[in-house]
Amino acid sequence: TILVLDFGSQYSHLIIRRLREINVYAEMLPCTQKISELPFKPAGVILSGGPFSVYEEGAPHVDHDVFKLNVPILGICYGMQELAWINGKGVGRGEKREYGPATLSVEDSSCALFKGVNNSQVWMSHHDKLTALPEGFKTVATSGNSPYAGIAHTTKEIFGIQFHPEVTHSAQGKTLLTNFAVDICKAPQNWTMENFIETEITRIQQLVGPTAEVIGAVSGGVDSTVAAKLMKEAIGDRFHAIYVDNGVMRKNETETVKKTLDDGLGINLTVVDAADEFLGKLKGVTDPEKKRKIIGNTFIHIFERVAASIKPKDGSEVEFLLQGTLYPDVIESISFKGPSQTIKTHHNVGGLLENMKLKLIEPLRELFKDEVRHLGQLLNIPEELVWRHPFPGPGIAIRVLGEVTPAQVKIAREADYIFIEEIKKAGLYRKISQAFAALLPVKSVGVMGDQRVYEQVIALRAISTVDFMTADWFEFDHKFLKNVASRIVNEVDGVARVTYDITSKPPATVEWE
Ligand code: XMP
Repeated sequence: TILVLDFGSQYSHLIIRRLREINVYAEMLPCTQKISELPFKPAGVILSGGPFSVYEEGAPHVDHDVFKLNVPILGICYGMQELAWINGKGVGRGEKREYGPATLSVEDSSCALFKGVNNSQVWMSHHDKLTALPEGFKTVATSGNSPYAGIAHTTKEIFGIQFHPEVTHSAQGKTLLTNFAVDICKAPQNWTMENFIETEITRIQQLVGPTAEVIGAVSGGVDSTVAAKLMKEAIGDRFHAIYVDNGVMRKNETETVKKTLDDGLGINLTVVDAADEFLGKLKGVTDPEKKRKIIGNTFIHIFERVAASIKPKDGSEVEFLLQGTLYPDVIESISFKGPSQTIKTHHNVGGLLENMKLKLIEPLRELFKDEVRHLGQLLNIPEELVWRHPFPGPGIAIRVLGEVTPAQVKIAREADYIFIEEIKKAGLYRKISQAFAALLPVKSVGVMGDQRVYEQVIALRAISTVDFMTADWFEFDHKFLKNVASRIVNEVDGVARVTYDITSKPPATVEWE
């Protein structure tokens, strides 16, 4: 394992990504991690970039015991400045901020870190820089604005670079990271999904033991399905999946979930039809946050009730709750946000655990989304499901603006179905990150046949994004939109007008509520 100590850079998680792409397992911990309390012995350590200045009071600093580990160390940007600060304090504010591409000149091609790296573009993002070569180091690379773009210790395997090799704009960043992780640290390149399945199944079996039972909610989405299938592989029918139909799911969702999980994947599934209970509680509610709370609380309530009714015949107990937590959530909760940070807990676990006295099991907590999809493919989960767009927990309730009634849900659901069907037909589904129809709470005049009508408006939304923090609206060709609009107005009762949302995020959010 390569340990990445995070100083709060927006790129820290990319270091992990790049290493995993070369099959090296890497984990991130905050820079405040005490080395004597490390949960594993790393093969090497990377100190990430960060938004602070090493010379400022209160700036974060690495535990100096990191040098006692006697493993190679690579400092990136702030991480290199930290190495310089520890070895002579030669760090100061540069005259200019340097942000964007720069040309790297490799000055010492015998340096193991730069093996096979030639003069090429690198990505810079810094204001502070080294003002002197730290004691015991030599310069191995420069750039126009950074005389110390790369430094290496003369006797130890300690390196520093001013640029960001983890960003794809650094043309040979991956070669450099491979040099560090594989050649210098000798980290094994055995991180593959095939190996993951094997070790994770063994880990689950050991954790759960020979008799205990596990429950978990499934939603029809990728993460919960992959997690459920992994549990099924590990402990068979001692895993119980619960699917709650909350009345605001997509069209045919319950049937599809039954068909794929129960019939197809052989997962022990309990389906709960709670549509009336949810819709009853949503009656008269228009505030989006209230809708979310009601749906979240009602879900917990029902899940607990159903979980309590699962009584394994042989008298064994339900001891664990499965959660489909992914690595980005974990990173979010452990990443370094500043000297005064408070550690965030996982909010998606919500109230369930507090009430249920169950132990948590999170088999996907080390994985990124694309790794989960790959895992899903290896576990023979149908292609359609593996590539499914995300769907919010509160479902169509936050896509029916205003009051959520069964009639309104039906309109939004039918329009959404047509939109997605056309997207799939046009071969665009995987080019789009998320698409849906929202029903607006306004009426608009139209003419159908010879009659004046006064009906509602559907807004279509389709976005492309990497991380859902920012998003662009998807550029359909006009013919496509024309066809979808015509189908929705003709086939969905109650809709007389269709619009396409052309707002990016920010300022708009993905959802309308
Ligand atoms: P926004 O609207 O915040 O959406 O730009 C970003 C992503 O989050 C999803 N989303 C939710 N997912 N519960 C969820 O499980 C929610 O309350 C919720 N609100 C938004 C949204 O669909 C998009 O993928």
